Amino acid sequence: MKMYEKNDPYKVFVKTGESVRVCTCGLSKDPPFCDDAHEGKSEKIPLVNTAEADTNLFVCGCGNSKDMPWCDGAHKSCPENEYFKERY
Ligand code: FES
Repeated sequence: MKMYEKNDPYKVFVKTGESVRVCTCGLSKDPPFCDDAHEGKSEKIPLVNTAEADTNLFVCGCGNSKDMPWCDGAHKSCPENEYFKERY
């Protein structure tokens, strides 16, 4: 499954001090994590998030968030995955 083929967010639990690299280019084969697929294909680089406390991250899986790479609830009003269809 590609990054924005979902119609809902990826839920990622991170522990305090743990860092994750979140894909921002949409090309990762291991979404929502960066697998370096952007290298040579996209100028977008991963967002490195270090948790200040144990928490769940909600990463956009539909491609329609206005707060990328985070889910902002926009998927609730997406009839289908418009971002993915336009770009890939
Ligand atoms: S999954 Fe894209 S806005 Fe929620």
